[in-house]
Amino acid sequence: MDDTQSGAAVHAEPALAEYEESFAATIARDQRVEPRDWMPDGYRKTLIRQIAQHAHSEIIGMQPEGDWITRAPSLRRKAILFAKVQDEAGHGLYLYSAAETLGVDRDDLTTRLIEGRQKYSSIFNYPTPTFADVGVIGWFVDGAAICNQVPLCRSSYGPYARAMVRICKEESFHQRQGYELLMTMMRGTEAQRAMVQDAVDRWWWPSLMMFGPPDGNSPNSAASMAWKIKRHSNDELRRRFVDMTVPQAQKLGVTLPDPELRWNEAEGRHDFGTPDWDELTRVITGDGPCNEERVRRRREAHEEGAWVREAAAAHAAKQAARTREGAAA
Ligand code: 3HC
Repeated sequence: MDDTQSGAAVHAEPALAEYEESFAATIARDQRVEPRDWMPDGYRKTLIRQIAQHAHSEIIGMQPEGDWITRAPSLRRKAILFAKVQDEAGHGLYLYSAAETLGVDRDDLTTRLIEGRQKYSSIFNYPTPTFADVGVIGWFVDGAAICNQVPLCRSSYGPYARAMVRICKEESFHQRQGYELLMTMMRGTEAQRAMVQDAVDRWWWPSLMMFGPPDGNSPNSAASMAWKIKRHSNDELRRRFVDMTVPQAQKLGVTLPDPELRWNEAEGRHDFGTPDWDELTRVITGDGPCNEERVRRRREAHEEGAWVREAAAAHAAKQAARTREGAAA
């Protein structure tokens, strides 16, 4: 007698192969995977890794520019910078929320960051000695972020893709404010123009490294692209960034510090030199100019913020108790 004959209809769980098939079909049809859908462990782990690193980058990324809020040269520049740094905090929060839909805890992710067990973008380990750095970060770093992140709006994981749509809208304002700041400085004194060129020289190569190691040395790319988490390879996006930035540099009147940079007519794109990949490895593994300071300040901010978290938790508990009492009355 089977279950149906006994009257106790039992719905058999689909076999693993059925789940895998349904997941593969979702990816193949370019549909979104949502938090409650079944997903392979590797897909979940890759997303947690990438989204957490991305969230940490936004939060650590507040530091290099945040250093200039008290020293911005005018009220207008201060207000713009304030808004921008605040946006980065918001981006971090969207991304931690997206990571939480995968079953991880934001506290745990923060602990991993401040204990140096999770990465954040290499670019935020460079110093910002002059105000021109604020402009160049907007132009290069946010420009690179746009190249990398616009395709992530089509990432296969729904909550990540949707977070990226909101983030990209703000990144475009960030890039434009940087370029406008630099335009203003280039119309200023000789010393200001020299300051801009110096910042361009220091940030160009680290900005190219933001896109990650070359394709031949990118262990995560193959799986991430097959799962449509990443839509383009690291080298492809790096090339796109160079092609986008060269005419902007010409218009601004600065020189990009690469003697090998030239237009390749046959290929319809620019040829350019090779970044120092040893430098990228050093910076990623903790040995960049500011790694120690960035993580220390993040740790201090977390510790100093303990009372805020405790107060918020106590308030939430009190509200929940009131709601329960109200329901019981
Ligand atoms: N900085 C730090 N680590 C990097 C890195 C970089 N620039 N580039 C690569 N890595 C790490 C990877 O995380 C990976 O480490 P892991 O396996 O231990 O996690 C390793 O180097 C090998 O690299 P892969 O190419 O195999 O790694 P990915 O496939 O994950 O590609 C990536 C790297 C292109 C950065 C990809 O993760 C990605 O697109 N991430 C989302 C975007 C992001 O995080 N951007 C960070 C900047 S945020 C920002 O710019 C804020 C804005 O407001 C300015």
